[in-house]
Amino acid sequence: MARVYNFSAGPAVLPEEVLKKAASEMLDYNGTGMSVMEMSHRSKAFDSIIETAEADLRELLSIPDDYRVIFLQGGAHLLFAGVPMNFLKRKAGYIVTGQWASKAFKEAKKQGEAVELASSADKTYSYIPDCSDLPITDDMDYVYICENNTIYGTKFHELPNTKGKALIADVSSCFLSEPMDVTKYDFIYAGVQKNVGPAGTQVVIARDSFLTDEVKPYTPDIMNYRLMADKKSLLNTPPCYGIYICGLVFKWLKEMGGLSEMKKVNEKKAALLYDFLDSSKLFKGTVEKKDRSLMNVPFVTGDEEKDAAFIKAATERGFVSLKGHRSVGGMRASIYNAMPYEGVEKLVAFMKEYEDKEMK
Ligand SMILES: Cc1ncc(COP(=O)(O)O)c(C=O)c1O
Repeated sequence: MARVYNFSAGPAVLPEEVLKKAASEMLDYNGTGMSVMEMSHRSKAFDSIIETAEADLRELLSIPDDYRVIFLQGGAHLLFAGVPMNFLKRKAGYIVTGQWASKAFKEAKKQGEAVELASSADKTYSYIPDCSDLPITDDMDYVYICENNTIYGTKFHELPNTKGKALIADVSSCFLSEPMDVTKYDFIYAGVQKNVGPAGTQVVIARDSFLTDEVKPYTPDIMNYRLMADKKSLLNTPPCYGIYICGLVFKWLKEMGGLSEMKKVNEKKAALLYDFLDSSKLFKGTVEKKDRSLMNVPFVTGDEEKDAAFIKAATERGFVSLKGHRSVGGMRASIYNAMPYEGVEKLVAFMKEYEDKEMK
């Protein structure tokens, strides 16, 4: 069967070149006579995989030496809980721009004092609130954001003014889609299943001086980020195969010309779809223009039955996983790094054709 155009929000499309390379190395990785799934995480071959992955990531994001890279297991949900375990001493401030930020906020409240600094819940999270003068107090340990809101299709194009407090960001759905200035953050994490690899692997980039031994006493060792960094992600068995695929994606990104080039392609893809939505008589985008995400593009017809009919017709034509998140409905096209320009071009052509028929 031919490959489809996969607009899934995650797990999501991966570069075909990466999948082919992984397939070619499935039975014999680099002369070891075994697949990466079968080898010891303490072997020389795996050492080289994890070290190369980290080096390539450092190069892609220009990560300074005083930042640590950690590969972890578990979904972003585990990080929602791990962040307050490690960093909430007195008080934490959360900016609630969608379901993932809201879930992270909920986990923090279980563990200590966490306050909402701003929210866009009043308009179904369709915008990013003004974060230039938030009620940040001296006793706050950190300010938390979800930088790209996968479900609602919004993105912080400007980081909040944290008034000198540490910034922690969930960047799961925009990770490596464009360059980012790591030094503006103290703790960044991404579930890789959107833009970088298979579900189950997390990448953390943390300022070394922000990592602490003074975690909550009930913190499991594998959620103690100071310890995990000191053990170079190898306190226990890491998600070996996931790290290997991430490493292949990092190499692919380097071959594509790095993150500035990736950003250009992503902007071009997103502009094609947004421009069409802005001129369409049938479909419309749901997000305030200034806050639109380059990665996740939600849209609606305004009629649930019409939405369902469109999704069915699109699926039949090989444009799959366009259904919006179950909490919001409508449609959502996730156009991550690995979605080729041609995929968006074909989707837009199909939407135009569908609209012409519908509006006749
Ligand atoms: C931005 C963001 N954060 C967190 C999550 C939750 O991730 P997980 O299912 O890996 O816990 C998702 C998506 O699933 C997401 O898009």
